Amino acid sequence: MAFIDEIKRRRTFGIISHPDAGKTTLTEKLLLFGGAISEAGAVKNNKVKKGATSDFMEIERQRGISVATSVLAFNYKDRKINILDTPGHKDFAEDTFRTLTAVDSVIVVIDVAKGVEPQTEKLVEVCRMRKIPMIVFINKLDREGKDAFDLLDEVEQKLGLTTTPLSFPIGMGYDFQGIYNIWAKKINLFAGDKKQKVTTGVEFTNINVPELDEMIGNKPADKLREELEMVEGVYPPFDQEAYLNGDLQPVFFGSALNNFGVKELLDCFIEIAPTPQPKKAEERLVDSKEDKLTGFVFKIHANMDPKHRDRLAFVKIVSGTFKRNAPYLHVRNGKKMKFSSPNAFFAEKKEIVDESYPGDIVGLHDTGNFKIGDTLTEGEIINFRGIPSFSPEHFRYVNNADPLKAKQLYKGLDQLMDEGVAQLFTLELNGRKVVGTVGALQYEVIQYRLEHEYGAKCTYENLAMHKVCWVEPTDNKAEFAEFKRVKQRYLAKDKQGQLVFLADSAFTIQMTQDKYPSVKLHFTSEYK
Ligand code: G4P
Repeated sequence: MAFIDEIKRRRTFGIISHPDAGKTTLTEKLLLFGGAISEAGAVKNNKVKKGATSDFMEIERQRGISVATSVLAFNYKDRKINILDTPGHKDFAEDTFRTLTAVDSVIVVIDVAKGVEPQTEKLVEVCRMRKIPMIVFINKLDREGKDAFDLLDEVEQKLGLTTTPLSFPIGMGYDFQGIYNIWAKKINLFAGDKKQKVTTGVEFTNINVPELDEMIGNKPADKLREELEMVEGVYPPFDQEAYLNGDLQPVFFGSALNNFGVKELLDCFIEIAPTPQPKKAEERLVDSKEDKLTGFVFKIHANMDPKHRDRLAFVKIVSGTFKRNAPYLHVRNGKKMKFSSPNAFFAEKKEIVDESYPGDIVGLHDTGNFKIGDTLTEGEIINFRGIPSFSPEHFRYVNNADPLKAKQLYKGLDQLMDEGVAQLFTLELNGRKVVGTVGALQYEVIQYRLEHEYGAKCTYENLAMHKVCWVEPTDNKAEFAEFKRVKQRYLAKDKQGQLVFLADSAFTIQMTQDKYPSVKLHFTSEYK
């Protein structure tokens, strides 16, 4: 197949949701349609269960599973679909943010009874800021939930989206009869079985016909007509351009568990979702159709087996063809590298491939050369942007608990930070190391992995801080010098050597900003 056709047929996206909204179930149903798996239950749940927050073995087990489900690829109607998994657990939110730099679009899953939940809000905000095209799937329609219009209002208000329903439920919960597919002008009735049977639906280009009453009953038919009239009157019509620009979000209703409304979603998705998109690098915009390879690392996964400390670096291909054994430039360290066994992902398996294309993810075995954000090219100096660090919310000093193993400790910390497990800051004043994380769970992961993978031991000391701010140097030299003198105790360097200010409260940030107005404080490392 020609290179250009390979690009055109790819759709790379992520599914985001608050835990329990049905992300895993929906993923599984999508794989079933692609024929990538043959039965429900085949995709292992990649989430740290709520009760397991301090169980190391559980974390390790989950890590193993999440390698397998990091990328799920399948073919559907000549399209190659790549689903990038995003952990739902809030302590791994940073992981999810990074994965979102590698997707071309997302599907947001919302529970019809619970509506918009906090984790959905956070993730959608990131997508909105980056103008990622989003489709909303309202799930669990087989249960009693909120009124469809109320939910659409909630989605618009809480998530700041502009919605346009492309399907509409006929009843809900006990009275749930099915879906009117506005996109394809069809009615699909719900049979309530879990046998993954897919009905093609009945076409209803005109809903003002008596056949509709015969099919779903007088009252529901009238209600549906009224509701669809309202949909037409209130919501903007679907406009693909607006969707692709991140200005309009189509909404689908269904029940992933019952495999209802999922095919409608998938069939529309492959029509409207974006093909591999151009990506901004510091130097220039790189188009997916360029024939020279470029790609970047968005995720690094450590090996489960402590005897083999190699890791798997996940590279999103932005342009060109990735070829096995071809020499590529690792831009950050200036070295040429060859990869003899690049992994591609198919359903839940990974296999060695000779060629991969824009939109695809390749897994490269790594012995510590890569860190998140690294770029590979055929020689050009390109640095992809958009993998910023955000301010952590928990801070602890890290101390070496075994003086003979200092080297191992620092190597371990270094590599774990490269993987993006947490962030390390070194205080300017005394060189003490501070580990910052999004959730408390990471401290246990770090301690456990240092011991089991690096043979090092550490202890922590609490540090009551609110946030770190990345400090933008100013031309006002006198003010900058004064800021550095007064705030000396609270200044540190991040792993890239950027200056950060550790603030103990929101009030301190405000006061500092007022006192030194020319010194700009930022909550993300990529502020330029
Ligand atoms: P997540 O990945 O977003 O965290 O959610 P997941 O798919 O694991 O689904 C969470 C729970 O919601 C699961 O039940 C799942 O079966 C259920 N669920 C998903 N889709 C639907 C739906 O359309 N209707 C109904 N009624 N339930 C749905 P569980 O009891 O937590 O797990 P399990 O024992 O069923 O695996």
